[in-house]
Amino acid sequence: MVLLGFFLRIITLVLSLTLTQLVDGFQSRMLMSNGLALTPQMGWNSWNHFQCNINETLIKQTADAMVSSGLSAKGYKYINIDDCWGELKRDSQGNMVAKASTFPSGIKALSDYVHSKGLKLGIYSDAGTLTCSKTMPGSLGYEEQDAKTFAEWGIDYLKYDNCENKGISPKERYPKMSKALINSGRSIFFSMCEWGQDDPATWAGDIGNSWRTTGDIQDNWNSMTSIADLNDRWASYARPGSWNDPDMLEVGNGGMTKEEYRSHFSIWALAKAPLLIGCDLRSMNKDTFELLSNKEVIAVNQDKLGIQGKKIKKEGDLEVWAGPLSKKRVAVILWNRGSLPANITARWAEIGLDSSATVNARDLWAHSTHSGVKKQLSALVEPHACKMYTLTRSKA
Ligand SMILES: *[C@@H]1O[C@H](CO)[C@@H](O)[C@H](O)[C@H]1NC(C)=O
Ligand SMILES: *[C@@H]1O[C@H](CO)[C@@H](O)[C@H](O)[C@H]1NC(C)=O
Repeated sequence: MVLLGFFLRIITLVLSLTLTQLVDGFQSRMLMSNGLALTPQMGWNSWNHFQCNINETLIKQTADAMVSSGLSAKGYKYINIDDCWGELKRDSQGNMVAKASTFPSGIKALSDYVHSKGLKLGIYSDAGTLTCSKTMPGSLGYEEQDAKTFAEWGIDYLKYDNCENKGISPKERYPKMSKALINSGRSIFFSMCEWGQDDPATWAGDIGNSWRTTGDIQDNWNSMTSIADLNDRWASYARPGSWNDPDMLEVGNGGMTKEEYRSHFSIWALAKAPLLIGCDLRSMNKDTFELLSNKEVIAVNQDKLGIQGKKIKKEGDLEVWAGPLSKKRVAVILWNRGSLPANITARWAEIGLDSSATVNARDLWAHSTHSGVKKQLSALVEPHACKMYTLTRSKA
């Protein structure tokens, strides 16, 4: 009996060790080693609205507006400074320095301010000799030094661009900064911006928390729709820890109608894209706030299952996009890309539901529920507009 008890204990120990190793192995395969980006990043970035016209006052006011508008409470946490924050020349020790005329208090003071608001601060550099504006140095050859500087300043996020790269492969340049950030002593989100040129989805899963899949977005319908399609090709590579990035949001910048912006935000949310606001938060109007603050749409983006939804049907200009969510739910978008109102239908088999399933269809923009829906979901959709739903199987 004593011997049997001993053997049982050994067996239990071996089993539990094996399980622990399996779980660890699973997580290290699933997650970037910095452990960040379990869900896509949410926040704001200065580029789409301000380009190089930035300064510390603007960044502080944006942090203030993120909190006072209520958007931070919806999950938007990163305040990201893009290009043009630094001096062209490094200091005598080779360190990057904040531009004295626009960031006179320095970046450390700014990160203290942003952190005091419960938010996180992001910064920008470039895997080349100069940034894209050519007004400040890139980090090529200075990866370890710059990562340490960012960590000392209290930076939480780095967007890493691709200009002036001397023709060196991104597969050489980006892993260097990834490693430098991990060695920096601070947890720093790594946002790779090599414009999708070398298909980063296929090699950057353990290097970046997100990677751009396309060139820059423009604030118009053609740009937004074509970027949505280009990004969609890489859907199967997205996973918790590392996401496809079809670029930052243009919602609120004025180049699209409200329905077009609603489509933009809905598709980005379904595609598990970073939700990085690109408008002037200090003067956002009611429509912009209504789109950016929709908790039910944000919940699709931040769903813990972390599977990128994709285009599953296209009949001319009429499209169905869908993807699975946790708790066996399904998110669906009926998207009319044409110029006339149209009836769009998603059949259960097309979106991964049993043909016998009965569902409750929650309309995430109307905030209403149709219960007992069978076989298919149809709706009349206005030009350039979409309907977005979460489908939950009803209990038999
Ligand atoms: C800071 O930037 C904003 C946005 O471009 C601009 O409106 C403002 O005048 C700037 N402030 C200073 C002090 O330069
Ligand atoms: C849309 O088409 C579906 C499938 O053909 C049909 O069942 C539904 O009644 C139509 N709805 C509208 C609003 O026309």
